[in-house]
Amino acid sequence: MTARIALAMTGGSGVQYALKLLKVLVAEGCHVYLMMSDAAKVVINTETDLQLPESFEDTATALSAYAIGSGRIEMLGKTDWFSAPASGSHAPDAMVVVPASGGTLSAIAIGASNNLIERAADVMLKERKPLILVPRETPLSKIHLKNMLAATDAGAIVMPASPGFYNNPQSIEDLVDFMVARILDHLSLPQSLQPKWGDHCGAASSSKE
Ligand SMILES: Cc1cc2nc3c(=O)[nH]c(=O)nc-3n(C[C@H](O)[C@H](O)[C@H](O)COP(=O)(O)O)c2cc1C
Repeated sequence: MTARIALAMTGGSGVQYALKLLKVLVAEGCHVYLMMSDAAKVVINTETDLQLPESFEDTATALSAYAIGSGRIEMLGKTDWFSAPASGSHAPDAMVVVPASGGTLSAIAIGASNNLIERAADVMLKERKPLILVPRETPLSKIHLKNMLAATDAGAIVMPASPGFYNNPQSIEDLVDFMVARILDHLSLPQSLQPKWGDHCGAASSSKE
């Protein structure tokens, strides 16, 4: 059965994680409910070569072309209250917020539900479905830490954008892929982006010592 995944991009740095995840989800044949905050659009236009147009429709078309995702990406606006992710009766199989800004993290932690991203996250928590939050901020204030704890207590998986270096990354893409691979693990989707721990050379040679 086709996995239905909600992907929310918010205004944290590191939209590359989200864009790569979008491509992989589409390639895996998932149906992607794509949500994007206004700030996420600013960050995409700042951090990538992808210059998204003004209008919602043109943005949806541009992202669909980027991810080669025609028909698999359902782009939703911030007040699309009648969309599937807005209701527990038709909730997606899982939701990822990547990058998760400090602002959206706090809104999710208190159940604000003031826009579709916040509402969809709230739905995932109340329905006890997987909600993966990928915050990007450093250093972390006590407010950030408390919000992460509150979200974790409510059932979210908080996965800071903190790629490991033990696979000997050669490029920024390798670092991006590290995070995307870990997200895919938690979505229970296959990934061939990164070797799994124990499958890389270091582990093989040390086991012979
Ligand atoms: C280029 C750029 C990078 C940003 N990086 C971060 C960040 O890493 N973490 C964060 O919490 N906010 C970051 N911000 C600020 C958020 O985008 C801002 O707080 C915004 O209100 C978040 O709104 P949203 O949660 O609706 O996306 C960044 C903003 C810009 C323009």
